[in-house]
Amino acid sequence: MAKENKVLIFDTTLRDGEQAPGASMNQREKMEVAQALERLGVDIIEAGFPVVSKGDFESVQMVAHKIKNCSVGALARSITKDIDAAGEALKGAKRPRIHVFLATSKIHMEHKLRKSPDEIVQIAVDSVKHARKYVDDVEFSPEDASRSEKTFLYRVLEAVIKAGASTVNIPDTVGYAVPEQYGKLILDIRNNVSNISKAVISAHCHDDLGMSVANSLAAVKNGARQIECTINGIGERAGNCSLEEVVMALRTRQDYFGVLTGINSSEICRASRLVSKYTGFAVPPNKAIVGGNAFRHESGIHQDGVLKEPTTYEIMRPEDVGFTGIGLVLGKHSGRAALKDRLKKLGIDLGDKELLRAFDRFKDLCDKKKEVFDEDLIAIVDDEVQEVRDIWTMDGFVVTSGTGIKPKVEVRLKSSGKIQKKAATGDGPIDACYLAIDEITGMKGKLLNYGIQSVTQGKDALGEVRVRVNFDGEKVMGIGASTDVIEASVKAYLNAVNKACFSKKTKTKVKDIDFGLQP
Ligand code: KIV
Ligand code: ZN
Repeated sequence: MAKENKVLIFDTTLRDGEQAPGASMNQREKMEVAQALERLGVDIIEAGFPVVSKGDFESVQMVAHKIKNCSVGALARSITKDIDAAGEALKGAKRPRIHVFLATSKIHMEHKLRKSPDEIVQIAVDSVKHARKYVDDVEFSPEDASRSEKTFLYRVLEAVIKAGASTVNIPDTVGYAVPEQYGKLILDIRNNVSNISKAVISAHCHDDLGMSVANSLAAVKNGARQIECTINGIGERAGNCSLEEVVMALRTRQDYFGVLTGINSSEICRASRLVSKYTGFAVPPNKAIVGGNAFRHESGIHQDGVLKEPTTYEIMRPEDVGFTGIGLVLGKHSGRAALKDRLKKLGIDLGDKELLRAFDRFKDLCDKKKEVFDEDLIAIVDDEVQEVRDIWTMDGFVVTSGTGIKPKVEVRLKSSGKIQKKAATGDGPIDACYLAIDEITGMKGKLLNYGIQSVTQGKDALGEVRVRVNFDGEKVMGIGASTDVIEASVKAYLNAVNKACFSKKTKTKVKDIDFGLQP
């Protein structure tokens, strides 16, 4: 592929994605997501914003050390201490990139930064020069570019390229742009910034009006050669441009866009599942590319057409994105080798201990459920794998509940081989279980959100519970699955407890950051 026809994929799931309210991941989870992104073949992983917290700094450091096949980036405001933190965190990275940003719109310059346009140009130039002391690869983002005055934007871009920025990113920070206008902005930048040929133009679009993917595609059509995006489109407020959608649009409509990415698309569903699991954000069934219904045909006419010739109603093949379908995969009589083989096909490679536990769960499930689907296997494996590393695991519970009686429970938890039990009453059986868990673990959690959905169809389907819990100011997501919804609820809550314990141990609490220029 000619270099000018390649679009670089800059993934910011671990930075802008993690800024989504309630999406925080711990270091181990971030590392697993980084590895999934490496398998996916993204060009750049934005690993975090090191100055924000010790945890963020360490996560960037860890990704920088372990990821060898992608550039690893770190974000910094145009402040010396931010750039120093980014430079330090990236030490040891094979291909480090520092990403500095500074707002250029009148609204931001006047109200947030309280700086004159001349001061902004000087700060931007100084920041890029400072970042270049650490790395050769510097990206500059004029924050709120889509609402910036164009001639001022050209001036800033020209100055930062001269100072050594090799990528200039054009953020639609507040998701205000529309495709024609944003595409024209990219074209105007190409025509009005004299040294633009020395830099790659990047698109960074937010989804406030649901146009982030369309805007990013319009940017590519007009010459942008990097797209900033996140898995499942997670990010600030309504989120960022979704990686899977933009990549598959470029691939499926290569006839129109005439460009390619280096993404190994068959890893898309796997990465999507992982991010959903760790952030606790469920993927809606109708979500393009990765939604459970994205490749399912309900209408008889469509089913008939697909059976005769898939291209009648399918513009992409499910296997192109690693979609595994819902076929009946294994049954009661399947052995461990068959389970291992099936999991391998789903991209899940378990160690012996984890496989053994997953197999026990699988057999349990076969007793409770007539048909076991790929989605069931993924859900039980997710549960088991996380349990192997957990501080607290569920040993069992008993619930007495019914019309007109106050629900009573006894919960037994295991930690370091020891079983502890507690009885409790509550407003409902789940509330009572959560109170008992709080008593045992000593972690007082406030339930912020609770949601349940079935993994597959039918009365015997696995229920997947997602909770969001506030532990002493730290908001954590938890997920758990079982055919018994109370058990799934207990597991989800325990998953949140374990994450909070882990985060306490590694001190990854994220503090609020001032997005002005105050050091
Ligand atoms: O949306 C935005 O403007 C950003 C910048 C930091 C690039 O995320
Ligand atoms: Zn952003």
